[in-house]
Parts: sequence; C-alpha cells; structure tokens
Amino acid sequence: AKKAVLGPLVGAVDQGTSSTRFLVFNSKTAELLSHHQVEIKQEFPREGWVEQDPKEILQSVYECIEKTCEKLGQLNIDISNIKAIGVSNQRETTVVWDKLTGEPLYNAVVWLDLRTQSTVENLYKRIPGNNNFVKSKTGLPLSTYFSAVKLRWLLDNVRKVQKAVEENRALFGTIDSWLIWSLTGGVNGGVHCTDVTNASRTMLFNIHSLEWDKELCEFFGIPMEILPNVRSSSEIYGLMKAGALEGVPISGCLGDQSAALVGQMCFQDGQAKNTYGTGCFLLCNTGHKCVFSEHGLLTTVAYKLGRDKPVYYALEGSVAIAGAVIRWLRDNLGIIKSSEEIEKLAKEVGTSYGCYFVPAFSGLYAPYWEPSARGIICGLTQFTNKCHIAFAALEAVCFQTREILDAMNRDCGIPLSHLQVDGGMTSNKILMQLQADILYIPVVKPSMPETTALGAAMAAGAAEGVGVWSLEPEDLSAVTMERFEPQINAEESEIRYSTWKKAVMKSMGWVT
Ligand code: G3P
Repeated sequence: AKKAVLGPLVGAVDQGTSSTRFLVFNSKTAELLSHHQVEIKQEFPREGWVEQDPKEILQSVYECIEKTCEKLGQLNIDISNIKAIGVSNQRETTVVWDKLTGEPLYNAVVWLDLRTQSTVENLYKRIPGNNNFVKSKTGLPLSTYFSAVKLRWLLDNVRKVQKAVEENRALFGTIDSWLIWSLTGGVNGGVHCTDVTNASRTMLFNIHSLEWDKELCEFFGIPMEILPNVRSSSEIYGLMKAGALEGVPISGCLGDQSAALVGQMCFQDGQAKNTYGTGCFLLCNTGHKCVFSEHGLLTTVAYKLGRDKPVYYALEGSVAIAGAVIRWLRDNLGIIKSSEEIEKLAKEVGTSYGCYFVPAFSGLYAPYWEPSARGIICGLTQFTNKCHIAFAALEAVCFQTREILDAMNRDCGIPLSHLQVDGGMTSNKILMQLQADILYIPVVKPSMPETTALGAAMAAGAAEGVGVWSLEPEDLSAVTMERFEPQINAEESEIRYSTWKKAVMKSMGWVT
C-alpha cells in the first residue's frame, strides 16, 4: 500500500523509573502517531536499596523503538520521515560503565535508593564554611536523592569501579548519558555527554556557571575525568548507530521533569506543571533567575534549548512516592492486579473512612527532606478494608502535592490559580477530582498526557541542523484540556489536610 506522507516526524525516548516508552509525533501538529511501552524491573537487594539493570534499560529502549516502527509500518507511515530523536529520562539514577567493553560495572543505583544515608551524615560533618556550600552552588540540599553520593558509594564499595577508575576505563553517567553513549555507538565511538538539566541533578554541577564544579568534585571525592561533557538540551549529540532508526540524529535531551515543563509549554516566568509518575514533581519556571527556596524546594535548571540560547531555571517540589505506592499495593500487598484497578476500588467507597497512608518509603522529600521517615498507615478500625486503603493511597498523592504547592506559593508570593498536570496517573479521574478538592483550585489536564515525551521531541525537532519544530506556543493551540473543579467546601478540605499533617508527623523519626 502507498505510505501516507505526513511531513517531518520526531521520536522521543521516555525512560522513566517504572517503564520505558518510545513515541513518535508529527512535528507540525504535535499529534502522537504511535508508541510502545515496556515495564522496567526494580530490584530491592536490601531494605532501602533500589537498583535497576542498565542493560535491561538499554534493551527496553531498542525494543520500544523497533515495536513503534513496526506499528508505524502497519499504519502505512514511512519511518524515514523520522528526522530526529529526543531523550527524556528518570533523573539522578547513577551508572558507571567500562568504556572499553561497554559493560556496566554495577547495577544502576536508582534515585529512590537510601543506601547513602550514612555517607550523607558523614559528609554533613565535613561541609566547608557554612551549610550553604552545596545548596548555593547546586540549588540542592545534601541528600541521598542526588547522584554524587551514589557515585561516592560506588567508588568506596565496588572493586570493579575502583579498578576501572585507576585504569582510566570508567565512565559515569545518569541514564541519559548511558543511553546516548550506547545508542551513538558505545565502544565504537559512543558520545559521552549529558545536558544541563540532568547535570543539575548530580550535586556536582554549578548551576550559575553551568559547569562541573571543581570544589564540589573535591568535596565528594569524584574524579572529574569520568564525568560526561555537558551540552545544551537541544543540539545534535550524535547519530543512532543501529536498529530501525540508524543514522537519525539524537538532538534533544532533558531530565523527564524538565521535558514535561517544555511539553506543557510552561515557557513563561510563573508557569508551572505537576507530573504524576513514579514520584510526583511540581516545577515552576522562574525565568533566567535562580530563585532559592525558603520552604524546602529545590532550585534546578529547567532547560537551555540550544547552544546559544539562554538558560531557564525552575523551583521544584519533589515527592518521592506517587505511582510507586500503587505499584507497591500491586506487587507487595497484592490488593490489586493491575494499576488501573485502584480507581475501581477507591470508587467503591469514595472515602478513606479516616484512614491515612503516608508512603514515606524513601524517607520524605520536599518540603521536609527527612530521611528518617518511613511509611505508615494509620486511623485503622475493624471497618477499614482494602478499598479504604486504596483511597488513602490516592489521597496521599494529593496531600503531598498540596504540601509542595503551599511551599511554592509561599516562595513565589503569587499563588497558582490552577494546576497544570500530566503523567500516567492523570488518567485516574478519582485522583484528579481529589486533587482539585484538596488544593481547592481547578486542576487542568491536556488531552494528550504524554507531555514528557512531547517536550523531548520538541527539543530534538527544534535543534540547530534539524529545524523541523518551532517552539512557538501557537503550535499547541489545538490541544484540548480537561478541567476538574473543586467540589467539596474549603473547610472540609482544610480538616482533611490538617489530619494528614498529623499522620506525617507520626511517620518521622522512625529510623535513627
Ligand atoms: O527525579 C526522579 C524523576 O526524574 C523520576 O521521574 O517519571 O520516573 O517518576 P519518574
């Protein structure tokens, strides 16, 4: 059959904590044409440890690309129209590999991993000058969340890593670097790079000078020669070396939360989005200014869409556990068989009946930054059943968002009038309604929820030398929005929220 001609297409890899996806968009309309998704395994070798297999991650990317290309073929769409590929990824997750063999030297240490708690405590004691040393340069608190301490742990504990560093064979990267190096040829000339957004999550990157920081590398004891080259989020890094899309340039790279900010077209100062994935991340564009939070938020690089383009910053509220709590109910408790079932259970009761669930599995992130917290379910009676627990799990996601929104409003001074949302969990209508009720402002969701991938595709398509995507906001004027208005009264909303805060206090100080 004759293949349909659509104009230039752009692909995007969206490598999240729970799954990998490859999606193909029409660059003229931003329409999603086809995609494929593969779930990624997580290993928990010890309490608090979270690892993934870097090779499984790479394999899943190849599989998603091949399957998406097959699906496009079935739709009579010619894959030679794909002019560029963007990469968006789970941030902070740390990989060290051997540049001569291409083999990872240990599993990827995932952002949620808590093994570096004592490393962090020891480093605290050695902070030079004042406690602001790390935060003033990186925008981040010294925490188990970021890559530098995970890399420190690998250098201290894994013989293979130590040896490879001594023999000048080791390369470090977050998932974007591992993927781009591998996809552009690996041992045969792979490009070792990262972008400014991913670099800003390592705790080694100076967000003012946009360079690796020598003093920070000394403080964490990181050899600078293993770090990737830092590039903008939109430029040609290299070409695909294998597979159905061999020869196509990889020309966009953004940490997934930055990608969602771009995909939601939050290009103006004060525009914000909240993405519900494994975790939940609210980012507010602060323009060219680095705004430092007084209320537990991070300062991070939002994007830099081209070598000669200016850098934009964001304030970020990070919640470690959102979709992960649903996966836990599925895999650890077995009260649901698939993630979608949570909505049915919650709907059956329509209330948690006084049950509160604080899923502090990896301590608490924003606004508390409390590694000693652990998950609790409280307010149980003999009446409580699995439906109430399911409801409480959804409510927990909304309460955590309320906490970071409150912090954001305090830091910015101008309260958000509505919340733009995206991510896998936003297809859950109960969750969206609860969110509007708990925030007491409307929640607005685009009809095409894959905004993370869209942002990476936009960056790739707009890159110099590709030039098939224009980043003018009009481009997406056709996107329709679904709106959820608050339905309970403000007083009821406040009572529920204050009970949640009591539960949070109980979750803290669990481990010492
Ligand atoms: O910082 C971690 C974040 O990038 C993970 O994103 O989509 O896997 O929840 P996600």
